[in-house]
Amino acid sequence: MSNLTNPYPSPLLPTVCCIGAGYVGGPTMAMIAQKCPHIKVTVVDISQPRIDAWNSDELPIYEPGLDEVVKACRGKNLFFSTDVAVAIAESEMIFVSVNTPTKKTGLGKGKAADLTYWESAARTIAAVSKSNKIIVEKSTVPVRTAEAIEKVLKRNCSDATVQFDILSNPEFLAEGTAMTDLAAPDRVLIGGKIEGQAGKDAVDSLCEVYANWVPEERILRANLWSAELSKLAANAFLAQRISSINAMSALCEATSADVSQVAHALGTDSRIGPKFLNASVGFGGSCFQKDILNLAYICECHGLKEVADYWYSVVGMNDYQKSRFVKRVVSAMFNTIRNKKIAMLGFAFKKDTGDTRETPAIDVGKGLIEDGAELAIYDPKVSDEQIAMDMEGMNDNITCYKTAKEALQDAHAVTIMTEWDEFKTYDWQEIYGVMQKPAFVFDGRNILDHDHLKEIGFIVYALGKPIDPFLKSAEGVI
Ligand code: NAD
Ligand code: UGA
Repeated sequence: MSNLTNPYPSPLLPTVCCIGAGYVGGPTMAMIAQKCPHIKVTVVDISQPRIDAWNSDELPIYEPGLDEVVKACRGKNLFFSTDVAVAIAESEMIFVSVNTPTKKTGLGKGKAADLTYWESAARTIAAVSKSNKIIVEKSTVPVRTAEAIEKVLKRNCSDATVQFDILSNPEFLAEGTAMTDLAAPDRVLIGGKIEGQAGKDAVDSLCEVYANWVPEERILRANLWSAELSKLAANAFLAQRISSINAMSALCEATSADVSQVAHALGTDSRIGPKFLNASVGFGGSCFQKDILNLAYICECHGLKEVADYWYSVVGMNDYQKSRFVKRVVSAMFNTIRNKKIAMLGFAFKKDTGDTRETPAIDVGKGLIEDGAELAIYDPKVSDEQIAMDMEGMNDNITCYKTAKEALQDAHAVTIMTEWDEFKTYDWQEIYGVMQKPAFVFDGRNILDHDHLKEIGFIVYALGKPIDPFLKSAEGVI
C-alpha cells in the first residue's frame, strides 16, 4: 500500500473511500480530507438525494463547523458520489459507515443489530475489488462481525488473489460536537488481526492516517474483537450513567433532595468524574438504545441472562423516565390536559443537531396526545416534515411553529425537551403574559432559572428538584 502520510504525493493521490454518507461518514471523512490534503477522500452512498445535498449549499445534516470544512475541501480532495463501484475500485482503504439499526422482524427482533446494509456493502466491495483492500468497520457492529464480513468478502470476490484486511475502527463522536470530537478525539481505537504481519501492517496504515493530527498516545491498538466490543461497551456505560442519575432524580423528588447538588457531589469524586451526570427526560439518539439492546442480545446469545438483564434495565429506566415525565405533566394540570395547548420547546434528541432519532420528545409527545393534549412544537433545527414523520398518526393534534413565541401564545404549559441555549435567553416574563393561567413550566432538561420563573408566577416542575407546593397534591401518582 502506498504511504498514506506522504506530504508530496506522486501525481496519483492515495485514495480512500467511505461507504455511507450519514452522520458518521460525512463528518469523519470531511475531517480526514481536511487534515490529510495529500489523500483523496470519496464518500459514497446509495441515496441520490443525500449525495446531492452533500454536493449543495444545504448539507444533509446540521453539525457546527461542518459546513466550513466541507466547503474548504469539496472538489479538491473530498468528493461525494453515488458511484459506489468506482470509488471502491480506486481505493486502497474503504471505510464502511452504513447504518446498523435494530432488527424490526425475525430472529432477535427488537434487539439484534440488522446487518443487512453492512452485508450489502461487503458484497459490493467483493464484486468490484481487483486489488488488495483494507476494510475499515466504522459502523457500530456486534462483536465478531469482522469474521462474518471476511467470509462474505472472500467467498464473493472473483479474484482469489485479492487480499482483504479487516479493521475495526469504531467512531466515538457525539452529534452536535462531531467536528471538535473528530479534531481532538479522546482516543482513536483501531482493532485488527495484530497477531499476524498482514494485520499489523493494515493497522499501521490506518494509524498513519490518524497520525496526521492525532497524538500517537491517543491512538489505541487492540485485537479485532476487543475493538468491536469496546464500542458497544462505551455506549452502554455512557447510557448507564444517564439512567443512574435519572433514577436518582426520581428519588430526589420523593425526598426533596436536589439532583444537581447530588450530581455535583458525585462528580467531584475523581473516580466518578463530572461528565454525563445531567438528569434529563431521557436519553435519545440513534445509538444508545440500539447499542445496549444489541449488547444485551449478544449476552443472551452467550447464555449470560443476568448480564443481559442488567443492561436491559438501563433502557427500562430510560423508558420509565419518559413516562414519569408525562405523568407529572398530566397530574400537575389537574389530571386533565384534554384540548389544552401544550408548547413543546425542542424536538431534537439534544442541542446543536437536527437529528430526532429516538428523541424523548417522540414518546413524551405521544403520551401527552394520548391524554388529549394539543401540541405546539418549536425546534430551531428540526423541520416540520421530520416532526410529521416522527409523530405519524398523531399529526391532527400537532401544530409546528417557526418561532417559540407563536408556540407559547395561549399555551397552558411549556415542556422543555431539548437543551437549546436559546431557550435560556427568552423573556420569560413576557411569555408568562401570553400564556393561560396557571402557567406551567415542565423543564425536562433543567436548563431554566427556576427561581426566576417562580418569582414571575409560573408553576415549575423540574426533574429531580424539590417539588413545588402547588404540585405536592399530585404526588404519589408517579
Ligand atoms: P446514517 O443512517 O446517517 O447513514 C448511513 C448511510 O449509509 C445512509 O445514508 C445510507 O443510505 C447509507 N447506506 C446504507 N447501505 C448502503 C450501501 N450498501 N451502500 C452505500 N450506502 C449505504 O447512519 P449514521 O448515524 O451515520 O451511523 C452509521 C453507523 O455509525 C451506525 O452503525 C451507527 O451506530 C454508528 N455511529 C453513529 C454515530 C452517530 O452519532 N450518528 C456515532 C458513532 C457511531
Ligand atoms: C453518543 C456517544 O456520546 C458517542 O460517544 C457515540 O459515538 C454516539 O453516541 C454513537 O455511537 O452514536 P450522541 O448520541 O450523539 O453520542 O450524543 P450524547 O451527547 O451522548 O447524548 C445522547 C443522549 O443522552 C442525548 O439525548 C442527551 O441529551 C442525553 N444526555 C447526555 C443526558 O440526558 N444527560 C447527560 O448528562 C448527557
